[in-house]
Amino acid sequence: MPPWDLVITDANLATMRPGSGPFGIVENAAIAVREGRIAWLGKSRDLPAGESHATLSAEGQWLTPGLIDSHTHLVFGGNRAQEFEQRLNGVSYEAIARSGGGIMSTVRATRAATDDELLAAAGKRMRAMQQNGVTTVEIKSGYGLDLETELRLLRIARKLGEQHDMNVYTTFLGAHAVPQDFAGDADDFVDFICGEAMPAVHAAGLADAVDAYCEKIAFSTQQIARVFEAARALGLDVKLHADQLSACGGAELAARFAALSADHLEYTSPAGVAALADAGTVAVLLPGAFVTLRETQVPPVDLLREKGVPIALATDCNPGTSPIASLRAIMALATSQFRMTPEECLAGVTRHAARALGIENERGTLEEGKIADLAQWDIDHPRELSYWMGLNELSCTFCAGRRSRDQ
Ligand code: NIG
Ligand code: FE
Repeated sequence: MPPWDLVITDANLATMRPGSGPFGIVENAAIAVREGRIAWLGKSRDLPAGESHATLSAEGQWLTPGLIDSHTHLVFGGNRAQEFEQRLNGVSYEAIARSGGGIMSTVRATRAATDDELLAAAGKRMRAMQQNGVTTVEIKSGYGLDLETELRLLRIARKLGEQHDMNVYTTFLGAHAVPQDFAGDADDFVDFICGEAMPAVHAAGLADAVDAYCEKIAFSTQQIARVFEAARALGLDVKLHADQLSACGGAELAARFAALSADHLEYTSPAGVAALADAGTVAVLLPGAFVTLRETQVPPVDLLREKGVPIALATDCNPGTSPIASLRAIMALATSQFRMTPEECLAGVTRHAARALGIENERGTLEEGKIADLAQWDIDHPRELSYWMGLNELSCTFCAGRRSRDQ
């Protein structure tokens, strides 16, 4: 099997492989990398003898799959700290949105920002994510809502990945809010998304998937069904912001289109959970938005677990409902707010997050053949990754077997 490009010795592994015990732990282990992929892993004593171009000792530290943030709105102009204060004074998120603030205020700031300004602001957030062990991030558009700005946001998202050694997957979220340009006519705007914007984004090769916001203050299930039909006709995967503020049949809609994921899910009904289970759709839970909006309706975690729906966790990093760039903080919040176990939390930002992006064959676990995206931690046990908030035990990350240049 050797020669390898890299061997990491003296490591403890949380492989997160299903069916291999809690966290898929292998202690006193080594990993060998060839051409960016894991070529061998196991107990150090079983490492096949032979040559490696480079050898590193992990000095007894832990390696996990590089973390995956499967739901972010990383690229936007300005911030909404003023609205955040208004909300603390009792004005609701919906009331702010209905009076022209909310998503629309970020749309105005984003359209007015230059590419360099957007890159610099999102770059800061991306570096914070990287310091949390994230090696893959999904980034949605949705703060442009005209063709030119949506294309710009998706290009900037891809460029950020190149600049930071980060795997970036882009999602076209055209159906995020109805812009003033359409004078509040959501159906007209959906025509524009399906007939013009989505085909252009797809032709430019800028979207890995299509998302939409299903809510009373956004789009109806009928309108989103049209968006999803258009996406499917172009061969694009779909995902959905579903049942966040009210029960709107979002989970059922996502399942009907075999969506990769249905996200938020605070108000999802038992029928919605059953539909997700049947469709194999991942539930992406977003405790950052839950705490920021001071929600009290907890997503149906027990039922999702019981029905075997894979649960991912993500930051939902955005200026309105989740000004949070720390996936580690999200893991800790998921334990206290949603009673998820530390192992479920780590699966939620590795294996299940990969599935929420349709990349489970390439990333999300430590297994031979998968891309060697790793995070190395100075901890005694992987349960600690959901325990501390604000203590950073990350030693370094590896993307496709290369130590990240930012650390
Ligand atoms: O995931 N729900 C819609 N999108 C974001 C919020 C966007 C915003 O308020 O700017 C979310 O919570
Ligand atoms: Fe979101």
